Amino acid sequence: MSTSRIDVGQIDLLGPDAVADPYPALAALREHDPVHWSAKYRSWFITRFDDVSDALRDTRFSSDRIAPYRRAKLDGPDADPALRAAFGVLEDWMVFQDPPDHTRLRKLLSRGFTPRAVSRIRPRIEELAEELLDAALASGTGRVDLVHDYAYPLTAAVIAEMLGVPRRDQDHFKRWSDQITGLVFGGMGDADRHATGATGMAELTGYLSELVAAHEREPADDLLSALIAARDEQDSLSHDEVISTGVLLLFAGHETTTNLIASGVLALLRHPEQQVRLSGDPELLGGTIEEVLRFDGPAKTVARVMAEDVELRGRTLRRGDRVFLSPSAANRDPEVFDDPDTFDITRRQGRQLGFGVGLHYCLGAPLARLEASVAVPRVLEKLPSLRYSEEQLQWAPVLLSRGMHSFPVRFDPARGRAGR
Ligand code: HEM
Repeated sequence: MSTSRIDVGQIDLLGPDAVADPYPALAALREHDPVHWSAKYRSWFITRFDDVSDALRDTRFSSDRIAPYRRAKLDGPDADPALRAAFGVLEDWMVFQDPPDHTRLRKLLSRGFTPRAVSRIRPRIEELAEELLDAALASGTGRVDLVHDYAYPLTAAVIAEMLGVPRRDQDHFKRWSDQITGLVFGGMGDADRHATGATGMAELTGYLSELVAAHEREPADDLLSALIAARDEQDSLSHDEVISTGVLLLFAGHETTTNLIASGVLALLRHPEQQVRLSGDPELLGGTIEEVLRFDGPAKTVARVMAEDVELRGRTLRRGDRVFLSPSAANRDPEVFDDPDTFDITRRQGRQLGFGVGLHYCLGAPLARLEASVAVPRVLEKLPSLRYSEEQLQWAPVLLSRGMHSFPVRFDPARGRAGR
């Protein structure tokens, strides 16, 4: 890809072209200005594989980025109490903490998310995928939105059930989760995102407090009961941390996985020769999901705040500066991946950074891989006539994440395959 015509000084990752396809802009940064200061976002953007990988393991690039914001903006007498409370919940998320709090929270949860622990729910994921695709076929319209009607309800139901949210309540929780997206991922064009996010957070935490009380009366075999047991037995978790970890899991458990499933289907539709290879050799499925994570994964950038001054490639990143490390850019670095802009499900290089790396490596990676490896091939098998139009794809205008708001597709209902 030629990047010489792109003026790196003018790059805006939230401009319409870069939102639809961030890779030319990321390639230009990686090649010409790998440690880039953006005046517009008052932040650094780091794009080379080795730099991103090193920074993710370097504690001088701190994850503790909510507490400083809260202290600077929300501790004054004029600050909105609902917003302060919402940021208080985020502050307890392990992803926003450094050791030792991070270590304590992560240890409590890791057992629930090993490949073995999550493999138990494979039949349920298959059942949900089947139900949603049957509903699309039964509608008789030959149209379905793969984000709204498939990936989102599937991943939301999986994490909600793991946590112990009853099915009847799951619709509310989807709305609250959408509302808090603006707080977590930032965004543009929505001046109310803080107010909306604070409302969603208040309703979600209120709901979870009641759910915790119900689980205290009647424990079940789910993650919320496990968190309550950890709070009571080892006294290592506060009540607020139980609630805020519940919010984290509900949120982290489906927003990004929805994007991975949608991007996976899109990548295979855009590269039909790869789809043919996959359908001829199911052994390629694991490599396909890794390649989707590399080629067009959901983690566009990961944010950090400098805990001290650091020199990098002749630039000085000062204490307190905000930094965006870009897995999407790193995963297409030609120093690490041959022919990086080619989608190749047989690729052998396996070091993609789509789940991060180091202390904060994605806790839910085994679950996300499992969900995608069920949901992506199943929709292609069951709706073999699937087609889409590039013009109708709506990409979310956010810096941190890469995903579609909407992915409308058409298919021939008469050619849909019932059952498994
Ligand atoms: C394709 C789907 C997913 C992607 C691309 C993804 C990506 C990531 C990334 C890049 C990080 C590191 C963030 C950082 O270093 O600041 C992370 C952390 C995390 N992810 Fe995921 N994630 C996905 C699915 C999930 C799922 C299904 C869960 C399930 C519950 C989950 C839970 C978490 C948690 C709890 C953390 C924080 C870990 C820590 O701070 O130690 N993620 N994820």
